[in-house]
Amino acid sequence: MLDICRLKASQKALSHVRNGIVLGLGTGSTVAVFIKLLAKMVKDKGLDIKCVATSYQSEHLAVDIGLNVLPLESFSCIDLAVDGADEVDGRMALIKGGGAALTREKVVASMAKEYIVIVDYSKLSSRIGEKKPVPIEVLPYAWRYVMKRIEKINGKPSLRGGGKYKDGPILTDNGNFIIDAYFGVINGPEELEYRINSIAGVVECGLFVGLAKRIYVGYPDRVDEIT
Ligand code: 5RP
Repeated sequence: MLDICRLKASQKALSHVRNGIVLGLGTGSTVAVFIKLLAKMVKDKGLDIKCVATSYQSEHLAVDIGLNVLPLESFSCIDLAVDGADEVDGRMALIKGGGAALTREKVVASMAKEYIVIVDYSKLSSRIGEKKPVPIEVLPYAWRYVMKRIEKINGKPSLRGGGKYKDGPILTDNGNFIIDAYFGVINGPEELEYRINSIAGVVECGLFVGLAKRIYVGYPDRVDEIT
């Protein structure tokens, strides 16, 4: 059921792709659907699209299916970026980082002239924080200190483990740890983002505020647009 929602949202984002653009590819299962649609469109129409990826996951997928992926450091500006999210609300605030790619995702979102988010309806909340913790990428040697500081601002932090695929903490594509911090409903996402990012040892947090200009929310029978 959610697959069709992801497909519908991805199709909407695809309609924004123009020949000759530099396109940022987000990370996650929703973006994977978009990347596959994109590769087909590029092939069918013979388009010239330069892609930059926000993770090894997206880079590997895009390269495997024939897209032209270039290093992010080759660009100072991107025409369009398309990404997923873990939780979104009507203020267009996002929680991202479920796939631990939040730092590169935020850089790409910030570089993009147009940043479009694609989600299925299960990601929609009246206020972000209702459902998900805020992922925080931290330098490995600072994690205990950052956990303590997060508790002082009323967060409930835990170090993300690798589950059955890795003993101990997961490592991001940048070689760092992820702390997931529950804050409950987040009324002031901008202020919280600032407070978290001001802690020494924090690389970036998964609160994205003021970046998304358009969110496509896929349902089984329609796509809603938040602008
Ligand atoms: C990765 C992300 C993803 O965009 C987010 O986790 C959504 O993924 P999915 O589309 O698989 O639900 O922020 O860091």
